[in-house]
Amino acid sequence: MLNTTEVKMLQFRNLGDERGRLVVVEGGQDIPFEIKRVFYIYGSDPDVVRGKHANRRSEFILINVVGSSKVRVIDCSGNEIVISLNRPHTGIYLPAMVWKDMYDFSPDSVLLVLSNEHYDPNEYIRDFDEFRRVCKNGEA
Ligand code: TYD
Repeated sequence: MLNTTEVKMLQFRNLGDERGRLVVVEGGQDIPFEIKRVFYIYGSDPDVVRGKHANRRSEFILINVVGSSKVRVIDCSGNEIVISLNRPHTGIYLPAMVWKDMYDFSPDSVLLVLSNEHYDPNEYIRDFDEFRRVCKNGEA
């Protein structure tokens, strides 16, 4: 089963000159998949918890391009890690079949998310007990 050891911090090229910074993320090169979907989360209050799901197929890269947030990741073995996202040139890779909660959003937080899959609500597992059951039965 997939586990938190597959969660990876990625450093992206931070190019810049006197005009400012430019960060490059190329699908299949800087990240381990081709990008099919991009979305971003902003305007979440600091006491909001988002995510609260696992995905059967979707892998994600999370980048706080502005501000900061945290992500808690729980794998099928129950291993848990918390990662602070606070650099526009650092991403976190999350494999499929991990439970994730995003929280502690700074007021200016813009959390950019890249995925290897188009949106399909049927591959989201939004109930933690269901996640544990799918893990246990190796169904994903
Ligand atoms: P949700 O998955 O609850 O967001 P988060 O995990 O960040 O808390 O998504 C919120 C709404 O947006 C929900 O109605 C589904 C919809 N949505 C899409 O239509 N496409 C997408 O790619 C995503 C991520 C969400």
